[in-house]
Amino acid sequence: MSRVRRKAAAVFAVAAVLAVSACSSNTPTTTSTNSGAATKNVQVFTWWAAGGEKAGLDGMISVFKKDCSQYTFVNAAVAGGGGDKAKTLLANNLKAGNAPSSFQAHAGGELSDYIANGQVEDITSLFKAAGLDSAFPKTLVDQITVAGKIYSVPADIHRANMVWVNPVVLKKANIDPKKAPATVKDWIADLAKLKAAGVATPLVLSKGFAEEMLLESTLLGDLGVEKFNGLYDGSTKWDGADVTAALGDFKALVSYSNTDRETMDWDAAMSKYLMPTDVATATGGYQLMGDWVPAQLLSLKVPDSAYTYWPAPGTDGVYQWLSDSFTLPKGGTNAAGAQCWLKVVGSADGQKAFNLVKGSIPARSDATSAGYPAYQQWAMTQWKSSKLAPSLAHGSAGPGAWNNDVQTAMSAFSANPDVASLQKTLAAAAAKYSNWRSTLG
Ligand code: BGC
Repeated sequence: MSRVRRKAAAVFAVAAVLAVSACSSNTPTTTSTNSGAATKNVQVFTWWAAGGEKAGLDGMISVFKKDCSQYTFVNAAVAGGGGDKAKTLLANNLKAGNAPSSFQAHAGGELSDYIANGQVEDITSLFKAAGLDSAFPKTLVDQITVAGKIYSVPADIHRANMVWVNPVVLKKANIDPKKAPATVKDWIADLAKLKAAGVATPLVLSKGFAEEMLLESTLLGDLGVEKFNGLYDGSTKWDGADVTAALGDFKALVSYSNTDRETMDWDAAMSKYLMPTDVATATGGYQLMGDWVPAQLLSLKVPDSAYTYWPAPGTDGVYQWLSDSFTLPKGGTNAAGAQCWLKVVGSADGQKAFNLVKGSIPARSDATSAGYPAYQQWAMTQWKSSKLAPSLAHGSAGPGAWNNDVQTAMSAFSANPDVASLQKTLAAAAAKYSNWRSTLG
């Protein structure tokens, strides 16, 4: 067990004891604002509106239709990668007392926002009654537990630090698409080779969270996992010289990307540059993106043989994880129906139907890799053997407000790539949110 895992497991052990003592046999008490026919509706809010993401949600819905046939699924998905639009709309709806039956939230800091705001129910009893307390890895249960109480049901584990590669484009500079550059600097050298060979978009990049993911992978690759994790627990300084050097590498990486990056989301950038319908016309070499990519490519009928992938340079052996989970909002519509949905989310059948086509792996520890596409089979073995790092871009490392500040800094940097001012902003954001855990009960 790595140090990171050992530490998380130890925290979990305390949380678990508290969870048991806090637990009662009652089901959560949520008042439904719906009555009569409307109570059949279970309105589920996500940002999985198209492509591989929608395919994953549809898989889960198919199990809901079977196991919760007394209810009607109402899809309240709002498009926008990483939930950029969905999260703002959700925050407004929750404030206005207009909660859905259940909504998607990342395990970790992002979920803690809703807990701190008193917007989600304690579902410890439901969790235990469905046997979920022993179904998930301890490290993950820790991320959905605050003061001994559990607030969501995890659906999956995704990996953020992945690079997707177009072999046809790399061939133009005689670069082996299967071999990951060992370090960030080696990757920059390959990007320069592609550019010299006439490749228009060596690195495919898109707005907001994608730029933040590239930033986090660069920090992870350059600093190593222990120091990287320290950026989020306060033990590594954001204004240190090693961060300055990593931000210099980040600047170099961005300089090899498409200049229209601020105008498009990850999936549009992928289809425009990395994997257009006619792959032979691709002008993009690499795209750093989470492993919802294989699902997207599957939904676009791109064969596995058309691309390769590897962990971001310098991050081999580290799983920068994130987990989508589902909540029971306070005052949400149809609490009983929502609980049926949550049981499906946590069930072996629900997780299989979802993860098979979402690119992610099941959050449940009892899942086997049989029947999964090659990518997920590989990911399952990686998940078991890797050290863990969290992601701010996808909620596992810190609260949403911190993430928003970093994304604002990303678009400022995209317009004016100044390392010193970026580092100042990142250090200020870290200082502003460093105590977020202490705001929780
Ligand atoms: C979610 C994934 C989703 C991705 C892109 C992430 O924040 O966890 O489920 O596929 O955003 O929208």
